[in-house]
Amino acid sequence: MIRMGVIGCGSMANAHIKIAEPLADRMKFTAFADIDVERAQKLSATVPGSVAVKDYHDMMDKVDAIIIALPHDLHYSVGMDCIQAGKHLLMEKPLALTEKECVALVKADKSPTPVLMIGYVMRHDPLWIKMGEFIRNKTYGDVFQVSIWTEQYTDTSRGSWMGDAKRLGGGQLFSHGCHYIDLLLHWLGEPVCGTHIGTNLGTPWMEREGTSNVSLKFASGALGYHFGTWGARGSKLGYAVHAHCTEGMLELGGLSGTIILHRSKSGGDLPALESLLAKGEKLEAPNEAVIYRHSKEGKKGGKALVEQIDGFLDCIEKKKKPDISAAASLPSLRTIWRLYEAEGKGIVADLRGVMGSR
Ligand SMILES: NC(=O)c1ccc[n+]([C@@H]2O[C@H](COP(=O)([O-])OP(=O)(O)OC[C@H]3O[C@@H](n4cnc5c(N)ncnc54)[C@H](O)[C@@H]3O)[C@@H](O)[C@H]2O)c1
Repeated sequence: MIRMGVIGCGSMANAHIKIAEPLADRMKFTAFADIDVERAQKLSATVPGSVAVKDYHDMMDKVDAIIIALPHDLHYSVGMDCIQAGKHLLMEKPLALTEKECVALVKADKSPTPVLMIGYVMRHDPLWIKMGEFIRNKTYGDVFQVSIWTEQYTDTSRGSWMGDAKRLGGGQLFSHGCHYIDLLLHWLGEPVCGTHIGTNLGTPWMEREGTSNVSLKFASGALGYHFGTWGARGSKLGYAVHAHCTEGMLELGGLSGTIILHRSKSGGDLPALESLLAKGEKLEAPNEAVIYRHSKEGKKGGKALVEQIDGFLDCIEKKKKPDISAAASLPSLRTIWRLYEAEGKGIVADLRGVMGSR
């Protein structure tokens, strides 16, 4: 039984606690730390036998593994302390604020003893994993444009540090867009150039951008795009992805939990759309086939956060290095830093070399 501690008992910690039940046979929360100790006490009150502390150093003897869900400017120092104390660590993204801090953490990473995994939750979402498989395997031909939309409303009621560019490490792109830059690199490979343009119009609580547009070109020739906003007062798309491939367009609908193949140009020997339907699906329109529908059945209920902790526990139990290691999280952060730098100069960013050695 792995004894799990949490440092930082805000919104993300609450999300982690709520979903942990399916993993109760492998882990238990034993300690909660927050500088605002009432927050730690509130979570501790929901888990019998756990303790609440103000200073995270005071919980080290009660835990084997730790989830860090802290403001970004604390990731480096607290992360380093936990690694040096020999604790397995699930660090909420992003790893740290600067390349220097990240590289130091990469050097300190001795995964799997102890494990250091970075919390890119979208990498554990079964719907998004399936989309990635279609793109990476070229199931519907060469992919030449992937567009991602993430529209939500997030103000500083979640934590006043979020509006502060120094504490956040930038704006919406660094804090939230990092998930989708990570995915675009994972799906499309090495980026060669790109641009970022952001604004805080509509999200005045953000010192830097609350709305962000990124365009990337990859070595394969494919283009990638991410539009993210924390200012959406409404949304039609929610979270959505369109991937244009040479044999049709794939549409991931975050709200519907489906991936639809759209094909209106008939191409000689391509299989009939009917033959591509997911099990139990019917052709609702002549040009659209639901090729995947996310199932919420099973012990883990198809929830990405549960899958993420499941993966973390797997690495600890089986002594495996996580796929999303500290080093593997660096290329997308390097991409963002270069995009910010180029945005400041009003030029296109040169992204060659961001992959480095993983
Ligand atoms: N994966 C996702 O989808 C997702 C979503 C939201 C947040 N996050 C990440 O989770 C992390 C936390 O974000 P959040 O939204 O929960 O923030 P939050 O502001 O809600 O919570 C942060 C908590 O840290 C506490 N804290 C501050 N300084 C501390 C210190 N020195 N010692 C102990 N506790 C301290 C605060 O009191 C607060 O309770 C960030 O890395 C963020 O990017 C991830």
